[in-house]
Amino acid sequence: MTGVPLAPPRRLVDVTVDGEAVRLPEGSTILDACPGTPTLCYGDTLTPKNACRICVVEVKGARTLVPACSRRVEPGMEIMTDTERVRHSRRLVLELLGSSTDLSTTPGAAEWSEEYGARPERFGPPGDASTDRDARHPGAHESPDGASAATVAQPAKVDNDLYVRDYEKCILCYKCVDACGEQWQNTFAIGVAGRGFDARISTEHAAPLPDSACVYCGNCIEVCPTGALSFKSEYDMRAEGTWDESRQDQTTTICTYCGVGCNLTLHVQDNEIVKVSSPHDNPVTHGNLCVKGRFGFQHVQNRTRG
Ligand code: SF4
Ligand code: SF4
Ligand code: FES
Repeated sequence: MTGVPLAPPRRLVDVTVDGEAVRLPEGSTILDACPGTPTLCYGDTLTPKNACRICVVEVKGARTLVPACSRRVEPGMEIMTDTERVRHSRRLVLELLGSSTDLSTTPGAAEWSEEYGARPERFGPPGDASTDRDARHPGAHESPDGASAATVAQPAKVDNDLYVRDYEKCILCYKCVDACGEQWQNTFAIGVAGRGFDARISTEHAAPLPDSACVYCGNCIEVCPTGALSFKSEYDMRAEGTWDESRQDQTTTICTYCGVGCNLTLHVQDNEIVKVSSPHDNPVTHGNLCVKGRFGFQHVQNRTRG
């Protein structure tokens, strides 16, 4: 008889969350103990980047707030998720992001802003949109005018039929870079260019996507938390005012393009596939696909046909 290898048993760790006792396997994060915590740069298929700090909580005895997404629980830890210090920090993160980027398609942002009382407008009206962010060089920052909030607004990059990069929605969480690079795709088509406020996600030499190393796997779209990266179909429907997630059904099926058999989740609105994602808990693909699984749905229904 073939035995099924079992993982070694994990010790359990006792902590408290807002005074309630919680028991978790050793190695769990604070986020595992507090699953409702807001997150942006955290991805369940990626190594935590600790970039956004919206997930911070207070831990008794710790000098600073700690990121729930990456900090592991320790025996006896007393975690506080709703102190004034936590609320103030989350409010500030939302205000800084909301004053400089477009969070209108970020799931959760509107609710969190209301919950924490974020008022991005107190930084002033949005400053002039920059049209030349790709041309900026490290150190060549524009001086703020002191009256308006600095912004990363810029035209969306629509340079191919499959996906759109709308970097005025980008919060620089680096998840797309990690998914394209060493953590999943190993294509390294995109990276971080510039420094400070002019830091931005870019292809090599800011080349249009069709001239870059991109293989159109769309694994960057899968992890983007703000909608800065989106299917062209979604981008067009949002522009037309027809995108409506409340009218969309999701059906998970198996890709038939090759023998690997990746899971595809088809998002269907009005009997049309409008985008494709992939379950993150699939032990083989972890939410990743290739161009055929991700974008091949356009062969099922030619969107340009009348
Ligand atoms: S589609 Fe794939 S290859 Fe292209 S930038 Fe995104 S992750 Fe990289
Ligand atoms: S494009 Fe999306 S995933 Fe990439 S850094 Fe910006 S917000 Fe993050
Ligand atoms: S979600 Fe934890 S630091 Fe961004």
